[in-house]
Amino acid sequence: MIKIAPSILSADFANLSRDIQAVSSADYLHVDVMDGAFVPNLTVGVPVVKSIRQCTDMFLDVHLMIEKPVRYIEAFAQAGAGLLSVHLEADHPTRIAEALKIMGACGIKRAVALRPITKAESILPYVETLDMVLVMTVEPGFGGQAFMESQLETIRQVRTILDRYNPACELEVDGGISPKTAPLVIEAGANVLVAGSAVYGAPEIPAAIAALRGPSV
Ligand code: DX5
Ligand code: ZN
Repeated sequence: MIKIAPSILSADFANLSRDIQAVSSADYLHVDVMDGAFVPNLTVGVPVVKSIRQCTDMFLDVHLMIEKPVRYIEAFAQAGAGLLSVHLEADHPTRIAEALKIMGACGIKRAVALRPITKAESILPYVETLDMVLVMTVEPGFGGQAFMESQLETIRQVRTILDRYNPACELEVDGGISPKTAPLVIEAGANVLVAGSAVYGAPEIPAAIAALRGPSV
């Protein structure tokens, strides 16, 4: 089953509650947290996740594009995140492992995220403890960028690793996902598709979500 995770980065933040209700036919709600250091952009933090938790029952998939994320795991878990993804490039491996351990202790799902430069085998030290791997298909930081076709190979390699060591682990892709690129990432092995502009830029949001999911067979 293909899951769709609309990214609220492309929503209207002055009408966030309305724009969250608009994507309720999707599977997860993707929240992009950026610190202006790990990526050049700044977005939202713990208080916003807490407020979002109060206005929807959707599963909150929180993508942390922040340096040293271990500092904030407990706070985001308490705010209502269902899953946190930490970037492998954001700290030393021991502290990434520590962040995953805290997620487990808080009872939320654990994910690692890979920038385009990061190799698929970087997930190996953590693979058995993960609920999801997030492969970026653009440089993290901004919505509306062009899909990097070169990332299809990384998706395939992560799929091979997951099939071998942790088949239940989900494989999410993020960046430039559209009705045109969705079949490519699904074919490469992704099962959770993040989409910002392709959902919020569409004239009819539920139809856009259904189009990304593809034909149900
Ligand atoms: C980018 C974010 C994405 C972004 C995707 O760093 O992680 O989640 O919202 O936007 P689109 O789907 O427009 O590429
Ligand atoms: Zn994201």
